[in-house]
Amino acid sequence: MEEKLRQLQVEANGAIEAAQDVAGLEEVRVRYLGRKGEIADIMGKMKDLSNEERPLVGKFANQLKNEISAKLEQRRRTLGTGAAETEKVDVTLPGMQRRLGHKHPITQTMERINEIFLNIGFRILEGPEIETEFNNFTALNIPQDHPSRDAFDTFYLEDEFLLRSHTSTVQIRLMQKERPPLQAIMPGRVYRPDATDASHSFMFHQVEGLMVDERVTFADLKGALDIFAKQMFGTQTRVRFRPHFFPFTEPSAEVDVSCIICKGKGCRVCGQKGWLEILGAGSVDPAVFKAVGYDPRQYTGFAFGMGVERIAMLIYGVDDIRLFFENDLRFLRQF
Ligand code: PHE
Repeated sequence: MEEKLRQLQVEANGAIEAAQDVAGLEEVRVRYLGRKGEIADIMGKMKDLSNEERPLVGKFANQLKNEISAKLEQRRRTLGTGAAETEKVDVTLPGMQRRLGHKHPITQTMERINEIFLNIGFRILEGPEIETEFNNFTALNIPQDHPSRDAFDTFYLEDEFLLRSHTSTVQIRLMQKERPPLQAIMPGRVYRPDATDASHSFMFHQVEGLMVDERVTFADLKGALDIFAKQMFGTQTRVRFRPHFFPFTEPSAEVDVSCIICKGKGCRVCGQKGWLEILGAGSVDPAVFKAVGYDPRQYTGFAFGMGVERIAMLIYGVDDIRLFFENDLRFLRQF
């Protein structure tokens, strides 16, 4: 009988360890400690034992009962904390869907602009946001008394450094470093201390373009921008050049595209004009070539600069530039 108890001891310990939940433990308890369980069964047969054997076996049986009770309790506590219970994997449940992030609408727009120019032979270059007065103004033929040099129009840092007010600075860096032929677009952030409102931000993005070689003409500029407009806004898009002035291009133009909303008929977005202004452009001014050490009799070129936010607002129908920079996910998730 003692032999039988030892066997029960081993079995019960194994069953307690194997139980995976509280219900399983309860089954083990009933099987060994229950009124009709294994130990009760042995107790019931004790009357057949000799007087010497009976107390020994009785003592062992009681010890075993206590031992099993204690182990059940211990195991119940481990399972009861929920650890094993909640860690069980239900492989039939659908997987967890994680929301993938995506690029900011301004980044998407800038990358689309870059891609179009890449496809027609331009390479992409970047320059620093902290610049010299020389690269931002002097080399670009912007005279000392030009209003854009004013402290109200430019963020000045110490010495002759400033936050660039346009990406035309990268034209200068490129021309100082390399000789023509050059064909590059230069995307990046620019800064102007403008009061913020629905259409102004102290920081925004531009994409600059530059092509320099022997015999580059204004017609090349028109061709490149026409391809850009049709790929960016649709094949029906028309382009219009209006005479304008920039110190670093001559002649200069402001470039409009036919309104992408009303296709030129006149609507609220284009202010009934049928045209939307998207960029400034022109032939590189000989004074700029002189500033970078090129011979203006040998080389000609064109340059343009466009505002990325303005284009993104037109494409996506966004009417307030501030929405792009507030990091409100309810807005950004729409793109
Ligand atoms: N730099 C001009 C601006 O910021 C845009 C421009 C670039 C115009 C190149 C002509 C040529 O307004």
